[in-house]
Amino acid sequence: MRLGVLVSGRGSNLRNLLDRGFEVVAVATNRPSCGGAQIARERGIPLGEFSQRRFESVEARDQAMRDWLISRGVEIVVNAGYDRILSPGFVRAFPGRILNVHPSLLPAFGGGMDAVQRALAAGVKITGCTVHLVTDEVDAGPIILQAAVPVLPGDTPETLHARIQVEEHRILPEAIRIVSEQIDAQSTPLRK
Ligand code: GRF
Repeated sequence: MRLGVLVSGRGSNLRNLLDRGFEVVAVATNRPSCGGAQIARERGIPLGEFSQRRFESVEARDQAMRDWLISRGVEIVVNAGYDRILSPGFVRAFPGRILNVHPSLLPAFGGGMDAVQRALAAGVKITGCTVHLVTDEVDAGPIILQAAVPVLPGDTPETLHARIQVEEHRILPEAIRIVSEQIDAQSTPLRK
């Protein structure tokens, strides 16, 4: 499956997908200076730069990004540390084909940023990560895979996030395979 990966941050999930041989045909970002964008440049992957200030509205930006991804033949969109909510027009263009990785065991600590800090502040003993399908409701689409990690004494947001990311790098590729297989199965014509 041809992947389009959306990034705003360091890009470790993007790097992991590339190292594992996934077919990433496009990387799009709202932050052209982020680590993920730099990885795309280094690896020679077409990079779409969609800074919000170049567009009149969120919808206009998302439309441009959608059209660019479609023009690249993207079949599955992966939000790998993408920090913007996708507008309904974008979500509709890739039904059941947008995955997001979130650093908590949803539905706990959903609905925005700082999930790791919030888990730590809440004093939970177990947290983790979730890969789910993106719908119009933030962090609430169908869950594909989750992985749990312990919160250890003395953890900081950084040490806890690092432990969570080890699991993200394991379950995001697996979730992409699951969704790819589901899409393939749906598009296989029934034989009589
Ligand atoms: C990940 O922890 C992901 O769960 C969250 O943003 C972070 C992105 O990390 N949505 P990276 O940029 O892939 O290193």
